Amino acid sequence: MADHSGEITEGCRLPVLRKNQENEDEWPLAEILSVKDIPGRKLYYVHYIDFNKRLDEWVTPDRLDLKKLQFPKKEAKTPMKNGLPGSRPSSPERDVKKSLDLHVQSASAPSRGKTLPTPKRKAESVSLATQVTAVTPVPSIPGSAEASQASVYPTIRDSTFSIKSRDEHEPLTSLTTNGTTSIQRHLIPPQPGRKRKNCGGTDEDSQDSSDGIPSAPRMTGSLVSDRSHDDIVTRMKNINCIELGRHRLKPWYFSPYSQELTSLPILYLCEFCLKYLKSLKCLQRHLTKCNLRHPPGNEIYRKGTISFFEIDGRKNKAYSQNLCLLAKCFLDHKTLYYDTDPFLFYVMTEYDSKGFHIVGYFSKEKESTEDYNVACILTLPPYQRRGYGKLLIEFSYELSKVEGKTGTPEKPLSDLGLLSYRSYWSQTILEILMDLKSENGERPQITINEISEITSVKKEDVISTLQYLNLINYYKGQYILTLSEDIVEGHERAMQKRHLRIDPKCLHFTPKDWSKRGKW
Ligand code: ACO
Ligand code: ZN
Repeated sequence: MADHSGEITEGCRLPVLRKNQENEDEWPLAEILSVKDIPGRKLYYVHYIDFNKRLDEWVTPDRLDLKKLQFPKKEAKTPMKNGLPGSRPSSPERDVKKSLDLHVQSASAPSRGKTLPTPKRKAESVSLATQVTAVTPVPSIPGSAEASQASVYPTIRDSTFSIKSRDEHEPLTSLTTNGTTSIQRHLIPPQPGRKRKNCGGTDEDSQDSSDGIPSAPRMTGSLVSDRSHDDIVTRMKNINCIELGRHRLKPWYFSPYSQELTSLPILYLCEFCLKYLKSLKCLQRHLTKCNLRHPPGNEIYRKGTISFFEIDGRKNKAYSQNLCLLAKCFLDHKTLYYDTDPFLFYVMTEYDSKGFHIVGYFSKEKESTEDYNVACILTLPPYQRRGYGKLLIEFSYELSKVEGKTGTPEKPLSDLGLLSYRSYWSQTILEILMDLKSENGERPQITINEISEITSVKKEDVISTLQYLNLINYYKGQYILTLSEDIVEGHERAMQKRHLRIDPKCLHFTPKDWSKRGKW
């Protein structure tokens, strides 16, 4: 068979072979984002259309189904901006290849792979899965008039909502909504109006070139995404592999480490100060000088082997910037900037005889006008799916409790972020509902505000969770919560598996009033 792979250009779409979670072959539609020639053959960087960007990868020609090749439409060329083509060959209508002999029109594909100025573009190419908002659209719940307290309702027993009768009066929980009708969400919160600083390595504690790394990272600013940097360069993973302590990490997304580091087979990080080094030799030399065996900042929590360190983005700039660079490898929906001053970083570690090893972290704005209690949250891949994500989330709400505030994570959430938050919110709210005791033989009562105050989970997230769990029922003009047997049992099973918990007694944290401070 003739080799037609030469016809494939950036912007083309075609089915590409991949293994699914069950290790079976599947052929999802993918878009070619880049083509590179290596001696003897070509490699194609593909994005699977309906999949998260973290699954993007380089593939060999034998994985491409050329028979179903679709070419980018010539006229669908991305508008030029400042003389540069847009970052993506957007190709809404496509010519499905009818015959392999068809001549290829490749005019709409801009050249890639070079470091170009980053043209501004909209989030149109972001895969749906990465742009999930935290709360499902919440239909208005008409508030029962001035219903700050709910009243008592008769038990509803029907086939749909059978009720576990551990306590004859427990099965139904009445609630009121205090007239909450709509929820406003800010997908892109306003940036703190501060000047971005260029941290070109002059700062005494910033990453410098003394260990063989010639230049500082390339971008400036803070941690909120407007996707304006989602261009031809940043769409593709650029770092091959990161060695961090005893772990090797394969990045999921682009991170703005300096260009020359992208050609390295492995980028070495000091697991304690997070400084990046281009070779093992450089790392070893660094380790003879680096005395850190834990993150900088104050240890504000310790229970067993788990600790949390609070790091001020202004006082420990180099560490914070290096943490952001590492985190960006696994966070797609946040733009990385270098002004870490407005943030605190809470780094969770696991202790052994060698030191306090980073497991994950979350960042938090010192002051948030949107009630955000988390900006970015990450469990490093080797530790994922073991309950650490929920532990980080639980910790973030414990901080909010001490602050006497309710909080919510910054939007948009990633697909995995939404899964984790949903799971945390569901378990937290169900824990409260199931602990409610009835008084005088009446059904237990609680308001949404009360759930929010007890948990520090923002009211909107409480409502969206109750709706997601499908607990809210309308009965005789009032809202009631019905806990079905399935829900109760599912919750009990899940809680038995949830071993990692925050013990508030081990938290030593005094919140600061940042608004009273002249400068962060
Ligand atoms: N597939 C399916 N479910 C998953 C997956 C997955 N890959 N990962 C986590 N979950 C579910 C778990 O099943 C669990 O739910 P359950 O207990 O009800 O079964 C829940 O999510 C939390 O699991 P944890 O083990 O506690 O979470 P983990 O340590 O894996 O961390 C996190 C979750 C932080 C989101 C992690 O996936 C991560 O770092 N991802 C990359 C960065 C990211 O997307 N961060 C969130 C961005 S949003 C923001 O920053 C505000
Ligand atoms: Zn170090």
